[in-house]
Amino acid sequence: MDKIVALCKRRGFIYPGSEIYGGLTGTWDYGPLGTLLKNNLKNLWWKEMVQLRNDVVGIDAAIMMNPKAWEASGHVEAFVDPLIECKVCHARFRADKEDEIKVHIQSHEGKKVEWTNPKKFNLLVKAYLGIIEGEQSEIYLRGEITNGAQVNFKNIVDSTRVKIPFGIAQIGKAFRNEITPGNFTFRSREFEQMEVQFYVKPDEKEAEKWYEYWKQNRMDFYVSLGIKKENLRFREHEDKERAHYAKKAVDIEYNAPFGWSEFMGIHNRGDFDLRRHTEYSGTNLSYKDSVTGEEYIPWDIETSAGVDRSLLFLLIDAYQKDGERFFLKLDPRLAPYKVAVFPLLANKEDLVTEARKIYQTLQKDMMVAWDDRGNIGKRYFAQDEAGTPFCITVDFKTLEDKTVTVRDRDTAKQERVKIDKLPEYFQNKLK
Ligand code: GAP
Repeated sequence: MDKIVALCKRRGFIYPGSEIYGGLTGTWDYGPLGTLLKNNLKNLWWKEMVQLRNDVVGIDAAIMMNPKAWEASGHVEAFVDPLIECKVCHARFRADKEDEIKVHIQSHEGKKVEWTNPKKFNLLVKAYLGIIEGEQSEIYLRGEITNGAQVNFKNIVDSTRVKIPFGIAQIGKAFRNEITPGNFTFRSREFEQMEVQFYVKPDEKEAEKWYEYWKQNRMDFYVSLGIKKENLRFREHEDKERAHYAKKAVDIEYNAPFGWSEFMGIHNRGDFDLRRHTEYSGTNLSYKDSVTGEEYIPWDIETSAGVDRSLLFLLIDAYQKDGERFFLKLDPRLAPYKVAVFPLLANKEDLVTEARKIYQTLQKDMMVAWDDRGNIGKRYFAQDEAGTPFCITVDFKTLEDKTVTVRDRDTAKQERVKIDKLPEYFQNKLK
């Protein structure tokens, strides 16, 4: 983990949030490479979940919502973690995180550590809206992005051609007042989620069919992104750990350096959300089948993934050692830069001009990095750590025969390719 954290800072993937002011616990800023990687991940997710399906539509709902929505969804009452406090140093922990508690007890080196009784701690982050001091209304930043989809169920049905079964997809920020943020971005207070709320007929068999379908669909997605199969597993939730809205829940877990950890969740939320929003808003959120005339409140099979967690696990899984060489074996579709272009020598104008031309041509179709600092070995080292799949070097031979050296990140093998064949070459290699 230390190596990944250091690499993320060194190469511009992830920095501690507001670092120059001493940081803000549980917040992280994505740098140039991290932002590219994050956008690539979200775009791939969106392509698979929305673009390539005819039963899912996408939305982008507001982060700030009428606070009644959070009462309806049960978050004001039940979005809680059990909080305990160490009586020696007043550090606070989640009572259900036994490993973290053990580590803390050890930090007091043999002292008898006593704890307060667990009390319910609400994770919703409060904010104040309004322009007149003292007359502001208290609202919540969304604790999960789900509510934005649920409250728009009727709008979607009325304004699009969707028919049950169908899904509403969304990507966006969520905020939680986590008691113990930690393990780098794994548990943050501000993070992003990618979710599909998939509405089905209110029937146990139908719900089970889609629950199993989404479990496998999501597992296949992460395997297709290059995560090693042996590092992924399903874990069904026991009754006592299920969220207040879930009839059934399963996590996809990743074998992280800090132990098997939740990557994402698939939940059968039943009719909990639509029923409660119907009750609290007075708007009928049932669905009428236009063929059979049947009217019902659909059940929701949800898939919910953290963008930041996915990105962290993708980075950990991609981190490889080959002899003395370290590289990020990221799927080319995820890699921040697809290609890097180097003039062999920064002070030879002919080489720089030729390299610039290649850089500008390729840039029209993909993210291309430019590097003319130091020696070629150092430039390869930097691009390997950035996960750039290919490096192009423009050397003296280029000026004679219009070929360049292309070096493959994973094998470190090099081959000569004609300049005018480069776009086609990368089109095939970067699929
Ligand atoms: N809408 C359902 C929902 O929010 P969840 O299991 O609480 O369910 C879903 O969260 C996913 O969001 C998690 O599997 C994880 O990937 C991500 N996530 C949750 N809390 C997080 C946090 N504090 N920091 C980073 N990611 C988080």
